Amino acid sequence: MKPIGRCRAHTNIALIKYWGKRNEELFLPMNSSLSLTLDAFYTDTSVTLDDTLSSDIFYLDDVLQGDKETLKITNFLNLFRTAANIETKCLVKSYNHVPTAAGLASSASAFSALAGAMNEATGLNLDLKTLSTFARQGSGSATRSIYGGLVEWHMGEDDISESSYAIPVDDATWDIGMIVIAVNTGQKKLSSRVGMKQTIETSPFYSSWVETATSDLTKMKDAIKEKDFITLGELTESNGMKMHATMLGAFPPISYWEPDSVKAIQAVKEIRETGIPCYVTMDAGPNVKVLCRQSDMKQIEEKLLNQFKPEQVIPTKVGSGIKVLSDSQWNY
Ligand code: ADP
Ligand code: DP6
Repeated sequence: MKPIGRCRAHTNIALIKYWGKRNEELFLPMNSSLSLTLDAFYTDTSVTLDDTLSSDIFYLDDVLQGDKETLKITNFLNLFRTAANIETKCLVKSYNHVPTAAGLASSASAFSALAGAMNEATGLNLDLKTLSTFARQGSGSATRSIYGGLVEWHMGEDDISESSYAIPVDDATWDIGMIVIAVNTGQKKLSSRVGMKQTIETSPFYSSWVETATSDLTKMKDAIKEKDFITLGELTESNGMKMHATMLGAFPPISYWEPDSVKAIQAVKEIRETGIPCYVTMDAGPNVKVLCRQSDMKQIEEKLLNQFKPEQVIPTKVGSGIKVLSDSQWNY
């Protein structure tokens, strides 16, 4: 029997954003960040250790991937192979229940699921905190997808890889939900990785971004302790906008927005003005995410449906952390 590991990981949306690395090789961020794990979007991944293979093979949604994508996977698997002291090549099959590379955090669920599956296949049995430091080295945002609810990714110290990990902050069972307004689920032209590097190198606003993100995070953790939804929402919206403002200051300027992103932001503002607390955030893509109370979700959805098609308005509950899947739970 060949060793096999299967794992599900959910995507997460940052409420305090990560936008820049201080160490690109180790994926060490410029600032700590905080996210909400989402139930509706996830990745399922299986890894088989196969000593008859001479190189890794990677299928995404049943499509065999080329050299560039496979190399990213190989580099990531090498972290685990080194830790387990093995050289065995792997067959990786991954299924995204989230649009790929559309600013809906596919890389977060992807590398978290791959980390969980490889942990299982190798029998390394790493604890979740250590696993988050491995997931980080596939994609920064994947650090946080190891856990459910509200999760903090500590920036860590200097160039010390083990010091930059995620921890669960709160299970977010106090009436929190999110609605994704899918403006465009096509693949983005500029990856987060390239976009953030360009921002650090050229935006004159970058140092202020790091300062403000750091103080926003402290305030947000206080709001979470108090279960103060309004402050949580206000900080989320403000922090996301400041990240996009910092990108606009880059040369050449970076904008992931489309006309319908602005339409969605305006729609949310109008709903808020009717007395329903709801707040927007956006990532490296044109899609808009609405942080709201789960108990208000139906009402908000109905209002958004006046302006957007039903398939564009996707409500989601808070998601859970990674889950190892058994053979019978693997439905592919
Ligand atoms: P997103 O907003 O979707 O996270 P990114 O540009 O940050 O966009 O990351 C998308 C990249 O993540 C893809 O181009 C691919 O390299 C990688 N990726 C996405 N899904 C998977 C998967 N299931 N397994 C491995 N890598 C994946
Ligand atoms: C805007 O984690 O996709 O979603 O670490 O280079 O893989 P890499 O980037 P990635 O960037 C996420 C950026 C963001 C904000 C966030 O998730 O914190």
